[in-house]
Amino acid sequence: MEAIGVLMTYPMSSYLEQQLDSRFNLFRLWNFPHKNDFFKDNAASIHAVVGSTQSHAGADRELIDSLPALEIVSSFSVGLDKVDVAYCKEKGIRVTNTPDVLTDDVADLAIGLILATLRRICESDRYVRTGLWKKDDFKLTIKFSGKKVGIIGLGRIGTAIAKRAESFNCSISYHSRSEKPESKYNYFPTVIELASHCEILVVACALTEETRHIINREVIDALGPKGFLVNIGRGGHIDEPELVSALVEGRLAGAGLDVFEDEPQVPEELFGLDNVVMVPHVGSGTVETEDAMADLVVGNLEAHFLKKPLLTPVV
Ligand code: DGY
Repeated sequence: MEAIGVLMTYPMSSYLEQQLDSRFNLFRLWNFPHKNDFFKDNAASIHAVVGSTQSHAGADRELIDSLPALEIVSSFSVGLDKVDVAYCKEKGIRVTNTPDVLTDDVADLAIGLILATLRRICESDRYVRTGLWKKDDFKLTIKFSGKKVGIIGLGRIGTAIAKRAESFNCSISYHSRSEKPESKYNYFPTVIELASHCEILVVACALTEETRHIINREVIDALGPKGFLVNIGRGGHIDEPELVSALVEGRLAGAGLDVFEDEPQVPEELFGLDNVVMVPHVGSGTVETEDAMADLVVGNLEAHFLKKPLLTPVV
């Protein structure tokens, strides 16, 4: 398969690069300072793009149109908000993603962010490191066990979060596009109703035009000054200026954020706030899971070029 050209637009994982390099003709776009020249010289030799959710690493209409031999986009992610899936479908380009293998890690991180935010783990770490313990006792924090947890999106990841939260004796409610009759959890037909009911709201749905800014001022105010928000979905789910002012004004107790609307940019107002815990979009970022995701990316490409069924097809 050395004649098959695979384009990576952004460095994602060295294991993935090694695997691709040993099988295909791998183009690393970041190694080419002059992008226009790169496309002029190589576009016709590129048959596959490996995308991801990192900035500038997707496959938008412009990239797709610049690659006349493109057959498949294999995304190193479960979320496909940076891939123009509808356009790929229209053009007969296959799309794959990496579901399942990252579910546990993302759900683990959601629980980690809940605990870090309610129990102020990062703030108390700073407190110890800066020697404040010697001067004063650390303030009391908020208990997680037994809380009412609301989950937006009860797919694979949302369900895995619910199971984990159940083991903390939490009661679980959810909102999704429609009620899941097979689910034992309490369904709320609107996000506002869910936010008014729960104490911790976790965003775990896919980003679509329907779910963009699903967390707006009304939802934040429904969650209220004792409420906590955790986002392991996408930054675009939250109206960030509204979140910032709610955290600054104490209209929301705290937030745990893995994702941001304009990554890697983060609203600077958040840097000085102790009631927010932020991590840099690392939901699936463990060695084990990234390697499993890489294997799926490569497996999908091999299957496609060997004319076998794709492992995790999207279109
Ligand atoms: C995904 O796979 O969509 C995750 O956001 C990557 O961390």
